[in-house]
Amino acid sequence: MRLWVRAAAVRRRVVCLWLLLLVFALVGLALSDLFNQDRDHGHPNPNPGPPRRPLQRIPSAPDLEIIVNSWDPALELGVDVAALESLQEDQLLFVPSTQGTKSPLQGKGSYKVILPGVSKETAAPVPRTHSETGNEVQLQLRDKYTELELSAVQKFGLNEVISERISLHRRLPDVRHPGCLGEQYSESLPSSSVIICFHDEAWSKLLRTMHSVLDTAPKQYLQEVLLVDDLSTQGHLKSVLSEYVSHLDRVRLIRSTKRLGVGGCRSLGAARAAGEVLVFMDSHCECQKGWLEPLLERVAQDRTRVVSPIMDVIDWQTFQYNATQWPVRGVFDWRLDFHWESNLQLKPKDADSAVLPLKSPVLGGGVVAIDRHFYHSVGGYDPGMLLWGGEQIELSIRVWSCGGSMEVVPCSRVAHLDHHHLPYRFPDQEILQRNKIRIADTWMDAYRKIFYRRDTLAHFIRQSESPNITERLHLKRSLGCRNFHWYLTTVYPQLYIPQDRPALSGELYNVGMGSCADLPRVQGLQGAVMNVAPCSGTGSQHCDLNSDSEVRWGPMGALCLDREGERVVMSPCPKQRPTSSGHQWKFIKLSGQLVHQQSQLCMEAVKEVEIPQSSTGGLFLRTCSHHPRQQWHFEQLVAPKSAR
Ligand SMILES: *[C@@H]1O[C@H](CO)[C@@H](O)[C@H](O)[C@H]1NC(C)=O
Ligand SMILES: *[C@@H]1O[C@H](CO)[C@@H](O)[C@H](O)[C@H]1NC(C)=O
Repeated sequence: MRLWVRAAAVRRRVVCLWLLLLVFALVGLALSDLFNQDRDHGHPNPNPGPPRRPLQRIPSAPDLEIIVNSWDPALELGVDVAALESLQEDQLLFVPSTQGTKSPLQGKGSYKVILPGVSKETAAPVPRTHSETGNEVQLQLRDKYTELELSAVQKFGLNEVISERISLHRRLPDVRHPGCLGEQYSESLPSSSVIICFHDEAWSKLLRTMHSVLDTAPKQYLQEVLLVDDLSTQGHLKSVLSEYVSHLDRVRLIRSTKRLGVGGCRSLGAARAAGEVLVFMDSHCECQKGWLEPLLERVAQDRTRVVSPIMDVIDWQTFQYNATQWPVRGVFDWRLDFHWESNLQLKPKDADSAVLPLKSPVLGGGVVAIDRHFYHSVGGYDPGMLLWGGEQIELSIRVWSCGGSMEVVPCSRVAHLDHHHLPYRFPDQEILQRNKIRIADTWMDAYRKIFYRRDTLAHFIRQSESPNITERLHLKRSLGCRNFHWYLTTVYPQLYIPQDRPALSGELYNVGMGSCADLPRVQGLQGAVMNVAPCSGTGSQHCDLNSDSEVRWGPMGALCLDREGERVVMSPCPKQRPTSSGHQWKFIKLSGQLVHQQSQLCMEAVKEVEIPQSSTGGLFLRTCSHHPRQQWHFEQLVAPKSAR
């Protein structure tokens, strides 16, 4: 009996225990369900694990778009952090637009940096007075930023302070040719996506760029403005910008948390763009009225045509606007540096030349419009290009060689901040050389030797490492692109092709002085006085005595050794052939004498102290002698064979 009672009590206790466990289990289940619901926004995920690829959409209009390549704690977004942390490479997160849900100017207190007169509701282009804006901005910055961030903002220096005082909607003087004002454009132009990449751009410059696009581009042709953040580190370009952009129509923001460089960043924008025509624009531009339509018209007429406006110049210190002289076109030199060339002669009889587009061997990177399908089919920007430098030259040679064309459209004008010294500084000069090596090895065939002789740093880098251009060469073959000889003779016949003959080209070394002939940088090109300087070894002092007896100088080879009285100078080479006898020289290998043909005098290096009236020495024409300062030889830094 007692035994039975004890057994019953044990059984009761066991049952109680089971019941208790059951209750725990149920409560636990319910709780975990609740948590899961929280995390999954009401969509329980049957198989938890890695999040879905590639899109994770939060329902609602995806106006503002963020791309996260890897988790970056610096991204302060008003969204679930856990969801962001679980994202993997290349996953996209769409942040719902707040547009229309509240008035921009009633934003949270922390977003006061929104300036008066910039929302689309209040977009009256009223220039703001100086006292009103400058101080206000500074005060608001102080409100918003930590000391550290403030000092970072102040790093932009004087120009940023001035820039902040200028309206984000300032009107540029209309400098278009009168003939442009009557131009008629097609009613059905293609739509465009304006892609603006930025990395630590100053707030006012970026916003003025964006607003000038919004203010000038006709709505029916502007599909969107894509701001692409190339891993900016400055606080104002993070949450404040996200908030700002979320109030704007047609503007989307894409962020990368990997540094992509100009080409990569533009490619990212292109991949996300919906417009028929891509317009790549630097983040420090201001658009002239009516700039977009002429570009779209030219692209619509021929989808393989890549076009640029005339790039006017904004002084980076004063922000003054300076119109560029027409005609102008883009070129490059044998060091693969880009230039706008503006002293061209157009045929004067052509009255329309002021409004007619001009073919251009290269286009600058400031603003470029290209059909989206053509852009992708021609291979986009070379993904092997690092940071920036040379990507516009690579794209230009490829477009021309692979079936397209390029031109500057004079009725379209966009102003570009010149000398943009911050923040795109090279961490390392070799990046530029590596990009140029890719261009040389992919596109220039045997002509690449000419480049390597004028950029010896590139030559030495190339000797120790090879660029991986496998994919680009494959692209070149599959597109059936023409060779560089065709490009030089058909597209850019004005470029002088150096002969670089052995013993008649290289640095011009003076035996008596132990130095090299040199053209000091800071002087005008007409009659620039020659001097001697330590041999640079970089290719910057390279010259070429050609079969026309000219001594050609400079990366363009457009300057010729000349005389002014007894002084030896550099002047632009004469265009007509045969060249004038004043530009002709004879090199006597045995004696090392360089003889000016017309005067039969020899070039001599003269030390500074020997000229009483002048503080400089230099190169002079003297009666020929066997003095060591009249003995020269051409030293080739890159032997013809080793340049590959
Ligand atoms: C404007 O540009 C021209 C050359 O294009 C130059 O000579 C002139 O000094 C510039 N003016 C200003 C104010 O920068
Ligand atoms: C070069 O790049 C291609 C793909 O871009 C890759 O398959 C190949 O392995 C690379 N070659 C070298 C030597 O790294």
